Amino acid sequence: MRVVSGIQPTGNLHLGNYLGAIRNWVRMQDELEDGSECLFFLADLHAISMPHDPAELRRATLEMAAALVACGIDPDRSILFNQAQVPAHAELQWLLNGTARMGWLNRMTQFKDKSGKNREGASAALFTYPVLQAADVLLYQATHVPVGEDQKQHLELARDIAQKFNNDFASEATPVFTLPDPITPPDAARIMSLRDGTAKMSKSDPSEMSRINLTDDADTIMKKVKKAKTDAEPLPSDAAGLGGRPEAYNLVSIYGALAGTSIDAVLAEFGGQGFGAFKPALGELMVQVIAPITGRFRALLEDREALDAILAKGAAKARERGAPTLAATYEALGLVRG
Ligand code: TYM
Repeated sequence: MRVVSGIQPTGNLHLGNYLGAIRNWVRMQDELEDGSECLFFLADLHAISMPHDPAELRRATLEMAAALVACGIDPDRSILFNQAQVPAHAELQWLLNGTARMGWLNRMTQFKDKSGKNREGASAALFTYPVLQAADVLLYQATHVPVGEDQKQHLELARDIAQKFNNDFASEATPVFTLPDPITPPDAARIMSLRDGTAKMSKSDPSEMSRINLTDDADTIMKKVKKAKTDAEPLPSDAAGLGGRPEAYNLVSIYGALAGTSIDAVLAEFGGQGFGAFKPALGELMVQVIAPITGRFRALLEDREALDAILAKGAAKARERGAPTLAATYEALGLVRG
């Protein structure tokens, strides 16, 4: 088993990232059997697909590394690095651009969402972004890729690219690439904005009130939860009663994900009560989960050299792990390398 996943170092790590993906990274790391390995990386190359400030990217990359370690990623057990220190990601992307089809990329909803009305002004990197994401996982022969619901389409594309490449350039007995499986936690695949239960919680939402950052202190968390959008009805007694109530559904599912229980179990406790009672309980539970992470995060940020060393060590290992697949890809394509 080879587990591979990434996160963009833009903005803060928020509750959606944590419950939708990172918590699952930590679980997979902790339950890993002998002979298996996890690679987790900061997708800094993906971050340049949108307008960005170089100084801010540098800062955010180190901060996100600290945040991942604070969440429980152990750099001695997992390979933790940033893409920019492993040139094979960009190299393999170019090689896979020959296999990816324009039609496939045209169907990606993220490109449509992020380019908005300004398609002509979007960067070429934003369009070929999913090919780099495919390279990220195929380079390491990933078998399992823990992601939130919103990344599943990109993983499907990675599988399509791997399959077509294997068909076109490899024999059935010796495929170049492994087809990766996305792993999405059933309890928290999609955490929504606190201001709008139909939009996902996101680093790019201009409203700070829309998300809980893992660096928020207890007062900020309580305030954001108190101000979270809701309706006027009390909570129902089972999950079916949350139909058509996206904000209520979101808050109850966040509670369930944090407490490790089902929506029905949460409603067995809070059904019939109003948000005036539920919100403080939710806020307290969030603080309980987040406060220790924030404490570790702040301590880690103080030692810049240690963070640099973690990423350098991880990158050296990643370069080693990726080398055979990159060489096999050049070879399969008939590219002469001496
Ligand atoms: P990114 O940086 O947007 O998010 C990192 C992880 O967090 C998950 N996530 C969420 N899950 C539930 N609810 C939410 N509101 C929410 N917001 C984010 C994402 O699904 C993701 O798992 N393109 C990727 C990074 C990437 C990658 C990869 C992932 C680059 N290469 C290879 C996996 C494999 C991205 O921008 O994720």
